[in-house]
Amino acid sequence: MTAPVLKVSDLKKSYGAIHAVAGVSFEVLPGEIFGVIGPNGSGKTTMFNSVLGQITPDAGRIELNGQDITRLSPVELNQRGVGRTFQTLQVFGKMSVRDNLIVAAQEHQGSMFGRMFAPGDSGLGARADALIDQFRIRHVADKKAGELSYGQQKLVDIAMAFMSEPDLVLLDEPCAGVNPSLVGGISTLLKELNKTRKGSFVVIEHNMDFVMDLCHRILVMVEGKVMALGTPAEIRSNKQVLDAYLGA
Ligand SMILES: Nc1ncnc2c1ncn2[C@@H]1O[C@H](COP(=O)(O)OP(=O)(O)OP(=O)(O)O)[C@@H](O)[C@H]1O
Ligand SMILES: [Mg+2]
Repeated sequence: MTAPVLKVSDLKKSYGAIHAVAGVSFEVLPGEIFGVIGPNGSGKTTMFNSVLGQITPDAGRIELNGQDITRLSPVELNQRGVGRTFQTLQVFGKMSVRDNLIVAAQEHQGSMFGRMFAPGDSGLGARADALIDQFRIRHVADKKAGELSYGQQKLVDIAMAFMSEPDLVLLDEPCAGVNPSLVGGISTLLKELNKTRKGSFVVIEHNMDFVMDLCHRILVMVEGKVMALGTPAEIRSNKQVLDAYLGA
């Protein structure tokens, strides 16, 4: 059996009386694109933030390639090859697209010293340029990110997560607020990145067509718990999921 890249066991996080994540377990396999769906407030982002060291879970264990990473900081996780995008845009509007990418990598390295003493952009420029081409945003690379459309900014935001050359990337709603005409492009791009960079992705998204087309397996969260886990076809025909979520 293939060893999982990410293993989450009985993860829990409450806010007062709200059990945002109430005992979630799942495994993500190498090279897998793993979807997470569920109604608003079902605990998807809280689960992400617990895995990513952004918030401290109350209970549970998280393993990356067999190693316990529970309660590591976001910077430590990034150094171990975990990247992420946030539900809201993280681009700096006044900075060029290319500089946004370079700064993102420097942030990931977690060191101000790196930023102060690194000669030039320490090779990050070449990495940024490769991503700019792969994301097909060369024509806006020198523009201020704030001047781009929301969808294009979202592309920059996703590209930023890949600057640290992560093995595992968690994306929180990559299509949120994006013009429907761009959604297919994001899907194609993620499939391409999955092939060329051989990474594993975990993708939270409300856009069902996108999730069903992109993901190898899908986890359905409802009220902080796992309602179902399976292939897109299995999830689409799961009566409980249809009643609770998809049929709405
Ligand atoms: N910092 C917080 N303080 C208090 N309650 C919180 C906090 N963060 C999340 N919650 C609550 O936890 C529950 C899960 O929220 P979460 O953001 O994880 O849901 P989600 O599945 O990501 O929703 P959406 O699809 O709308 O992004 C919600 O009831 C939310 O109000
Ligand atoms: Mg969320």
